[in-house]
This record gives sequence, C-alpha cells and structure tokens, in this order.
Amino acid sequence: MEIKNEKKELIASFINIEGVTQEEIYALITVPQDSEMGDFALPCFRFAKALRKAPVMIAQELRDAILVKDHPFTAVEAVNGYLNFKFNKLEKAKKTLNAVLSMGTDYGTSQEGKGKTVCIDYSSINIAKPFHIGHLSTTVIGGALYRMYKKLGYNAVGINHLGDWGTQFGKLIVAFKKWGDREDLESRGIYALNEIYVKFHQEAEKDPTLDDLARKYFKLIEDGDKEALDLFYWFKEITLREVKKIYERLDINFDSYNGEAFYNDKMTPVLEELKEKGLTTISDGAEIVDLAEYGMSPCLLVKADGATLYATRDLAAAFYRKHTYDFWKCLYVVAYQQNLHFKQVFKVLELMGKDWAKDLVHVPFGMVSLEDGTMSTRKGKVVWLEDVLNKSVEKSLEIISKKNETLANKEAVAEMVGTGAVVFFALSNSRIKDIVFGYDKVLNFDGETGPYCQYTNARCNSVLRKLGNVEEYLKEPLTDEELAGIDNKESDALITLISNFGSVLNDAVARYEPSIVTRYVVDVAQSFNKFYLENRILNADESQKRARVALVYATHVVLKEGLRLIGVQTPEEM
Ligand code: ARG
Repeated sequence: MEIKNEKKELIASFINIEGVTQEEIYALITVPQDSEMGDFALPCFRFAKALRKAPVMIAQELRDAILVKDHPFTAVEAVNGYLNFKFNKLEKAKKTLNAVLSMGTDYGTSQEGKGKTVCIDYSSINIAKPFHIGHLSTTVIGGALYRMYKKLGYNAVGINHLGDWGTQFGKLIVAFKKWGDREDLESRGIYALNEIYVKFHQEAEKDPTLDDLARKYFKLIEDGDKEALDLFYWFKEITLREVKKIYERLDINFDSYNGEAFYNDKMTPVLEELKEKGLTTISDGAEIVDLAEYGMSPCLLVKADGATLYATRDLAAAFYRKHTYDFWKCLYVVAYQQNLHFKQVFKVLELMGKDWAKDLVHVPFGMVSLEDGTMSTRKGKVVWLEDVLNKSVEKSLEIISKKNETLANKEAVAEMVGTGAVVFFALSNSRIKDIVFGYDKVLNFDGETGPYCQYTNARCNSVLRKLGNVEEYLKEPLTDEELAGIDNKESDALITLISNFGSVLNDAVARYEPSIVTRYVVDVAQSFNKFYLENRILNADESQKRARVALVYATHVVLKEGLRLIGVQTPEEM
C-alpha cells in the first residue's frame, strides 16, 4: 500500500463525522492550488447530504470543534465549504530543506515497495514492423512507471513482450526471397525490411498465390526448418538493433525481451487446464472460452487450423510471469483499443480460479496523432518515431543556437532537449486522452514544456555554479535564524511543493499516471521562477543567503529527479 502522509493522517484524526470513516476523510484531503490558502484542505461538499447541512456550515462547525481542542495546526480556516489547515512554516521548511540537503537526488526515495515485484509489460513492439509514433506512449509511460517503482523500493521487472510470431514472418520471407537484398537490409535495417513488407502487400493484392506461399513459409518456421528459422531470427535481430538505439536515446530499459514466440511451447498446459476445468467449448472448429455471460465476445484460443492466438500467448505469459517473478502486480501498458482483449484474458484467468488474476492491470492510454494529420499505419504511410525525435532535435539545435550562441556542446544539449520535449509532451496529459503532437507546441521554451523545465533547472545550476562549492557551502543543516531568510510567500509555495515530492510519486504509481509527475515538475518550475524573480540569491544579505541557496539546490534536485523519472535528461547549461 501507499505510504500515508503523516500530516493528512493527523488532520483526519481531528475530524469526526458520523458515518464517515477516517480513511474516507483521509482520501478527501487535498493540497490547495494556492498555497496561501493552506497546506491542506478538506472539501466538505461530500458530507452535505449525510449531515443535511450546507458545506459552508459544516466547514465552520468542524473548525470550531478543532479549535477548542489542543491541536498542532498554526491555523484552521473555513472558506467556502473548505476547511483549510496550515502547519508551522518554519518547521516545514527546515524538515524539507534539510532532508534534500542530506539526501541529494535520493530525496523522495522510499522503501514502500520493499519485497514487492511489479512486472511492467511495455513498448512490446512488433518485429519487422515500423517503430512508429504510435509506440511512443506505451514506451514512455511504461519507462516512467518502471523508474518510479524502482525509486519507491519496488522490484520492477520491465518486459518487452515482442510481437515476434505470426504469418507476417512468412510474408517477410517471401518478400525477402523475391525482392530483398541482404546488404541493403543489413545497412538500412528495419526501414528496408518495412519496404519489402509493404511491397509484399501491394503485390499480394494482384497475386493471391503470394499469400499461400507466405503461409507455407510460416509453417516452415513453426516446424523448425533451418533456413526459415535463420531468416526469422535475422529479421528479429535487425529490428531489435534499430529499436535499441531509440531505447537508448530515451533511457528505456527492459529486464526481459520474452515475446510471443517465447510462449510457443508454453501454451499446452494452459489449454489443458482450461479443458479440464470445463471452460473451453468448440465453435466452428475453434477452441474458445465463451464469455457471453459476462457481456463479452468469446476469447479465441485455438483456430480451426490449429493455430494459437494472441490471447493464448497472453494466458501463457501471465502464468509464466506469476511463476517466474511471483509478482505483486503485473501491468500491461497497452493502448485502449485492446481493452476488450485484456478484459477477456483477465476474466479467463479468474474463471480458472487464479486469485492473482486480480493483480493484473491493463494500463490503457489514448492515441497520438500529428498536427498535420500524417498518421496512418496503412500501406507504409507511417511516421517513424526516429524521424520525429531527429526532427525535434534538429529544431532544438536551431532554437538553442539562437538563444545561447556561446553554449558548449550544443549538439549534446539539443539531443536532450529535442528528445526530452517529445517525451515530456507524451506524458503531459492524463494518459487516457488522445493527444495531438506538434513541434512548435512541444518546443515552446515559455510553455508548460520539457524545454521550459530543463531551462529552469539549468537556471538553478547556473546559480549554484556561480557560488562555487555548493556542497561545502550547504554542509551544515540550516538554523532557524537562517530559515527566516526565506520567510515569504514565493519561498513558502516552493517549499510546499518540494515537500510534496514523495506523495506525488506515490500518487503517480497508485494511479499508474506519470503525468502527475510531469504536472508536478511544471508546477515546481513555475513556482521557482516566481521565487527567482522576487528574491535576490547570490547577492542576498549574508544572513539570508544560505537558506535561499538551499532552496535553489532543493529545486534543482526535484526538477532533475522528477525529469529523470519521466525519462527526460537535464543539460547542465542551455
Ligand atoms: N505487440 C502488441 C501490439 O503492438 C502489444 C503487446 C502488449 N502486451 C501483451 N502482453 N499483449 O499491439
């Protein structure tokens, strides 16, 4: 379970409403957008019905009941149906900043997940098919969750469930034999592979015997024919070689590349168990699990010709993962188009009596399209992810060169900014939303973008660099007198945000929603820029300077770490 926020728990313990549990109250407590309102707020609207009173009144009564008690809050206020709580600012600042100073980028790390394994099935590309912009979301959402779980002490297992089985391999062999050129495939890799694949489809429309031939070759692969298998492995290698370059650019890692083919010899026991339990029926020669009772179409397991299906492989994969990793949860980061598929697979496992079926979670997401509408996977008209990254990097280089002519390592910085902008954008909205990608939008240095946050971090770095040896300068914990140097509205808002880093991470994994962290990073960057505008730092009064520098340092830590978690690198300067 998530770690409880001590302050929220404390607040909940002061609220007594008949028929409402402490947990329910805890869950309602939020952090106000405007930190002036308080550190936490309890909206009272939900209680109106049960108490038959207006929320405004409820908030006032709850406040009065707290004020007569011995309580730890510096203020409790009832405002428009909200009950707002403030804690001692000085204590908060001290605790937060000293924690960041002592932990550095380990700040926010926890042991919440100790002893728990989370399998994350993500990216899961299809061999010999283009790695196109449609794979962006699964890759970056999964990658972000993978890093976040690790930060929270979970044992995360990243799985690339490769789509490496199916008749398309028969088609590829035919295509390669007819029009392929080994050298060309070696040098242009997946692009050349895709070309002959597209050509196959064009030609097969005119000459249907090609499809028969493809089926024959696929059968040869299934039967373990040496030549066919060698080609199959080669296509796979070519694809992975190319894709791994992109994974490297995006800091995406996997612990396993066991894909569909891996389960070829692991489906029989599952099918047998299903049969034993009387769950399968034969329909038109195919083996299915009838799910009509649950309002779903049947789960297709074995076709009339004996071929197994995507779902059969996923069933075998679920068993394999449970046995191999004994997961606490197993996530499938796959587009919402596959909602039904996962509902069926999970249901079948539940019907088999596997109590762990409840630990399988489909984490769906919406579609990415391009502003100019060029997003079609048909007939080779695809937008390759690599091209999008390259173009974004190219444009970043132009912008950076204009903004900072003397910047060293411009190319390296542009790589971080260009790829980071794409990743940041993909993780900006709640994942279920369809999004429209545009270069100008994601590279707007003044918008709520990756570059804006990277730039803010670079600004922090620049302050810290000018100071010299920051570690030495901030070695001693901050004293109360020093903390008085940041007793103002902008600092307070920023500290509140920084102190929330851990609970933001908890929230993000609890909801499988990396965008919570993306949003948070934007909030921190905006809050820092307000602070930076209003407060002198390096030429502040000596008595105030150390606390302000500490706040800059703490901002830098959460920005860098927050961005790293979502998969965005941070240039030192830009
Ligand atoms: N390769 C599949 C696709 O591109 C996604 C696989 C997702 N993972 C799974 N275990 N089904 O649609």
